[in-house]
Amino acid sequence: MNVLEAINARQSIRAYQPRPVEPEKLEAVLSAANRAASAANLQAYHIYVVRDDARKQALAAAAAGQKFLATAPVVLVFAVEPARSAAKYGARGEQIYCMQDACAAVGNAMLAAVELGLGTCWVDAVNENLAGQAIGLPAGQRAAVILPLGYPAEQPPPTSRRALSDLVTDL
Ligand SMILES: Cc1cc2nc3c(=O)[nH]c(=O)nc-3n(C[C@H](O)[C@H](O)[C@H](O)COP(=O)(O)O)c2cc1C
Repeated sequence: MNVLEAINARQSIRAYQPRPVEPEKLEAVLSAANRAASAANLQAYHIYVVRDDARKQALAAAAAGQKFLATAPVVLVFAVEPARSAAKYGARGEQIYCMQDACAAVGNAMLAAVELGLGTCWVDAVNENLAGQAIGLPAGQRAAVILPLGYPAEQPPPTSRRALSDLVTDL
């Protein structure tokens, strides 16, 4: 599978098989996240690997009750570390770059998962305080994106997209 094939095959998966994710596949997903672009290569985020059911349930509660995420054998939490960006970029780093760094890493992880036959779904950490408590985040980190990871137990129909003519302006 090449990159374009992975991009086109990716879909949000909201039901997972109980089958565990092999350690080497998990490492490949995390390594893909680690290769993402980041502002000044600061990588102003941290990734938590959650397998414990009570923590997963607490994350589902933090995500406005999206219980499906707790069906995944592994849940990744991407937490931003604003101070890492702020040290170089001040307020712009604190408010924007750390989040962009984390989001770039999430995208890489999602595409790597497709290549490995795994599914993911980008889930917003709606109540970031609750999400932080669920995984014991240290001070200075904020939960940003929750990413369940596992073998899909569904094959949803493809989602639509805006037309490129609506999305793109060719100057
Ligand atoms: C910033 C962001 C937040 C999202 N939050 C959620 C969420 O909380 N729960 C969910 O089920 N999907 C969430 N999604 C996934 C989108 O619903 C999904 O990507 C979109 O409907 C397109 O479907 P597809 O991913 O299958 O192509 C989110 C995606 C993004 C980028």
